[in-house]
Amino acid sequence: MTKDIEQKVSQLLEKMTLAEKVGQLQQCGPSIVGAFGVDFEELVNMVFDGRISKEKFQEMMSSSSIDLHEDDLRAGKVGSYNGISDAKTANYLQKIAIEETRLGIPLLFGYDVIHGYRTIFPIPLAESCAWDPELWEKTARVSAVEATAGGNHMTFAPMIDVSKDARWGRVSESPGEDTYLTSRYGVAKIRGFQGNDLSENDAMAACIKHFAAYGAAEAGRDYNRVDMSMQRLCEEYLPPFEASVKAGARAVMPAFNDINGIPCTVNEWLLQDVLRKQWGFNGMTISDANAIAECVDHGIVADRAEAAMRALRAGVDMDMTSNCYVEHVEELVDSGKLEISVLDQAVGNILRLKFELGLFDRPYQTDENREKNEMLKPEYRELAREAAVKSMVLLKNDGVLPLTEDVKLGIVGALADNRGEMTGAWAIKADSNDCLSIVDACQAEKLPHFYTAGIIDSEDGSFVDDQSVAELAYASDVIVAVVGESKVESGEAASRAEINLPLIQLKLLEQLYKTGKPVVVVLFNGRPLAIPSVQQQAAAILEAWHPGVEAGNAVLDILYGKVNPSGKLTTTFPYATGQCPIYYSHINTGRPAGRGKFTSKYLDTPIEPVYPFGYGLSYTTYTYSDLYVQIGKEELLVSINVENSGVVDGEEIVQCYFRNKVGTRVRPVRELAAFTRVKLQAGERQMVQLHVPISKFGYYDWDMSVVVDNGEYEIFVGGNTVEGLSTKIEL
Ligand code: BGC
Repeated sequence: MTKDIEQKVSQLLEKMTLAEKVGQLQQCGPSIVGAFGVDFEELVNMVFDGRISKEKFQEMMSSSSIDLHEDDLRAGKVGSYNGISDAKTANYLQKIAIEETRLGIPLLFGYDVIHGYRTIFPIPLAESCAWDPELWEKTARVSAVEATAGGNHMTFAPMIDVSKDARWGRVSESPGEDTYLTSRYGVAKIRGFQGNDLSENDAMAACIKHFAAYGAAEAGRDYNRVDMSMQRLCEEYLPPFEASVKAGARAVMPAFNDINGIPCTVNEWLLQDVLRKQWGFNGMTISDANAIAECVDHGIVADRAEAAMRALRAGVDMDMTSNCYVEHVEELVDSGKLEISVLDQAVGNILRLKFELGLFDRPYQTDENREKNEMLKPEYRELAREAAVKSMVLLKNDGVLPLTEDVKLGIVGALADNRGEMTGAWAIKADSNDCLSIVDACQAEKLPHFYTAGIIDSEDGSFVDDQSVAELAYASDVIVAVVGESKVESGEAASRAEINLPLIQLKLLEQLYKTGKPVVVVLFNGRPLAIPSVQQQAAAILEAWHPGVEAGNAVLDILYGKVNPSGKLTTTFPYATGQCPIYYSHINTGRPAGRGKFTSKYLDTPIEPVYPFGYGLSYTTYTYSDLYVQIGKEELLVSINVENSGVVDGEEIVQCYFRNKVGTRVRPVRELAAFTRVKLQAGERQMVQLHVPISKFGYYDWDMSVVVDNGEYEIFVGGNTVEGLSTKIEL
């Protein structure tokens, strides 16, 4: 099969003209022109700035003013599209490619299916808190079924940027701060998106991104420089990409940022030496949007022609929307500046993927009928509810939760009744009418409740006056304050220099605490927030993130204890923004805090986070005992008894960490080595076994050789990074 494809690729390459080859490298997006007179990018800016509504955007996108670059397509100058949102348009364009171009090479349609297509699941940061690879795979499968029905062949996901800095808006798209967890997430998502056979109509190629270290942007500011040791890059940021390539990811997107002065888009070491030579990747690479042209702004090339040459040489096969390749590659080859073999390599990688997807045999893999029937099926909604419930993290509970159904709820905060806000930042195909808000869910369940809109965010805040607060308190037994971030406050280009709740929301909470009624805070947000005062004063806190279409039902499932919460944080909640980046796997320093004045700490802020990595409560308690580690040749077998010592059934996420006590280079105080979810009925006890390959202890020495130190290691097992049992072993 593979040999067969390779043969077909070379045969086709032989038939292609230079211009046709260059055409295959080009990905365009639909441009909005004509009556509106604005291009697509500007339009997106307008949505984010609030100059036009999302509804208006959708109306414009589906209007006749979209330029689909049909003339270019007919001339063989387009190999792929990004962002075609329906089967009809996709098939229309595909027909032009097949019937009206000389060689009839099918188009590849790419789309950002980040956490769902029509059925919107929780944002990735949320879903990672489920610590559930099976779930991650299932939600990706559903997303692929829907997205392929909508005409797409490739998703720009999973995003597997290790993200340790909560100021960075794109933490919302990531599976959090841990390298190993991110690797597991990436592998599961690839299985889900790509299915068992990429040539099936409902399988889509996974494009892992952003290669690499985008999550380490200096000061948490999006697109900013990344400057770090090679050791750190290879130990903390590259492993999820390596694991995902080994799991079969068929596409890779280089990141916008530079690493140590070389933008990833022109980084030959990264894209050739590491990706292709070391890891054996033979799929397709695609630049990030406009990233090739942006190399001029980086100051690494003089002009767009040089940008095209450097990016192609470095190994960027397809140009996402910068047009540098279509403008310059023919001339670069003709003038002898660029060898044709470099171009052939890139075209070959693109054609290979098109063959693997079965596009030459079946260029039309969907139709409007399939599209209509595949979206938002009841079982998809059910899965979205399960995913949302498993993603939510109970951060505090003084006993007020779970609620009983006769409790009168006083709900406050506009996010409690805003369906469109439930989807999160990356849900292009979302329809807000599909979403259930908390108020919707209360109404559907006929629960006694009283609702006051109040605030949505700092700008748009309508102050809740004392009178309304008094009425709310009078009408209710328990207040549910729904606060956090609106969805545009996280995601791309949404870094924040202060990650606390806006003042207006904090003020509202102060008013509510004063009423004396228990205040349950429900947070909808896309990043960790610095909320020490909420931790101190709220009766309970539920981190609900941006949960997707089943938001309202999922929140009620937890508040009323229909499901025992089980989510655990995959990202550290700081005490103050100034602690960022703060993460559990830090090194000790020579002067750990807690030993007096001249130690590594702050004068004005504790050194600890408010909520640590791995943390999350439930309505029961789990007791750990009898930790035992058996050392084998290849792996450690870690055994522990876990007991549900409370009175309700639940699921516990058992986490295993290690610490290398004396390293060749200094090592983190803890590193995640394994985890599993266990179902335990009230009173039940289970022996949990975790396998930790010895290779996990490997890391890079000063000379970049991998070492596994002999000597003492500490093994920790528990329900988070600060509690549990530990034991020492010698390797
Ligand atoms: C983002 C990518 C995304 C691409 C295409 C870029 O701005 O960085 O993550 O896949 O747009 O929409």
